[in-house]
Amino acid sequence: MKIQAVRGMQDLLPEKKAIFRLIDEAARSVFQSYGYKEIGLPIIEETGLFERLVGRATDIVEKEMYTFQDRNGESITLRPEGTAGCARFAEQNGLLFNQIQRFWYQGPMFRYERPQRGRYRQFEQLGAECFGIPTPDIDAEIILLNARIFRLLGLDGDITLELNSLGNSESRESFKYDLVEYLTRYKSDLDIDSQRRLIANPLRILDSKDPTTQTIMLEAPKLLDYLDSESKAHFESLKTMLGECGLDFVLNPKIVRGLDYYNKTVFEWTTKLLGAQATVSGGGRYDNLVKQLGGRDTPGIGFAVGLDRLALLLEQKSYEVKKPDIYFVSPELKYRSLVLCIAEKLKDQIPSLSIIVNCGESKMKAQMKKADSSGARIALILGEDESSEGKISIKFLREASEQVTILQSEVAEYCSKYFCKEDTFG
Ligand code: HAM
Repeated sequence: MKIQAVRGMQDLLPEKKAIFRLIDEAARSVFQSYGYKEIGLPIIEETGLFERLVGRATDIVEKEMYTFQDRNGESITLRPEGTAGCARFAEQNGLLFNQIQRFWYQGPMFRYERPQRGRYRQFEQLGAECFGIPTPDIDAEIILLNARIFRLLGLDGDITLELNSLGNSESRESFKYDLVEYLTRYKSDLDIDSQRRLIANPLRILDSKDPTTQTIMLEAPKLLDYLDSESKAHFESLKTMLGECGLDFVLNPKIVRGLDYYNKTVFEWTTKLLGAQATVSGGGRYDNLVKQLGGRDTPGIGFAVGLDRLALLLEQKSYEVKKPDIYFVSPELKYRSLVLCIAEKLKDQIPSLSIIVNCGESKMKAQMKKADSSGARIALILGEDESSEGKISIKFLREASEQVTILQSEVAEYCSKYFCKEDTFG
């Protein structure tokens, strides 16, 4: 029996990895432009961190964590998300007291969910967290930043921003009380998960996908009617700011998020192009998180984008992976050291060039076929004639121009003009 990848763990083929890189580069430039600093967080944390902050009654903690005992008998967990670890990091490193911090991070997260397209047991997130600002302007900034990443990737138009407010914990408690009272009347008609949640985590019943539960929910109390006046004003102000900045959004009172640490603003970015796994980014405010961790009262807000889902979206938009610039062919192994030397010099002089040297033994015709299918713009050819005359031939693979032969000593200058000022050639 061959050994296969562990279920739910994705192999990223070069085309997919290139899309991840593209997303990373776009996000990196946006974070930089908003003054967010990149940080590195451990993949493993103490299990208690997630139990305490994400919440014991959440799906993540109840049934999705990869939790192990290490050799010392300590319970450790592969992080299912980044916010709890980021708060721990900021608090432990003394970065929170009387300070405003804007951080971003990326990396793999692990959840033992049922794998399907867009849902994996190891998946990649890009997240941003901002600590120290209680006012809605930072909510707007975080959301505008997230929007800019999507815009830079050409995805605006495919993704919708959905907004909700969860209020403070008192308003949520009184809403929960009335919700449970209402739903208890219909308990036997609710789906099994919702029946269980009625006791453990009633807010999650709001986003149940079961049709009967959804019908019952139509007449249920509405969370927005219970908002405390401060949360209401915060939410109104955020909506005004987003509107004035020209960012469209829809209100979705069903958004409660699957993690317990949120209060006030919560949001999700969804798409119609990915079927059931429609949420490509999610986030919100978590003003009690640092305190729950044992630190001082510190407001916070953030979001995380799911790279795997964004990559699926970009694939559907027939995103093109970057092709090599040059494919270098030569008939026999005896020319190869000269070929490698020329390629090395070219890379020294024009570091941005991507050059594939045809290594191994194959006929020139087969090599030219490979050059063509690689997508390279030109083929450099070093055959017997060229080598004896100190020359090199250039075949244009994507345009009708005649093949040219130049001195090997001139190839860097030629390529630099060709690739940097293409319009001067023809
Ligand atoms: P989350 O909504 O659990 O939030 O995850 C954020 C994003 O990660 C989702 O919108 C989705 O795109 C992606 N994602 C989640 N689970 C999977 C999976 N199994 N497979 C593929 N992609 C997945 C959080 O994790 C919060 N920490 C976000 C946050 C940051 N809130 C405040 N700051």
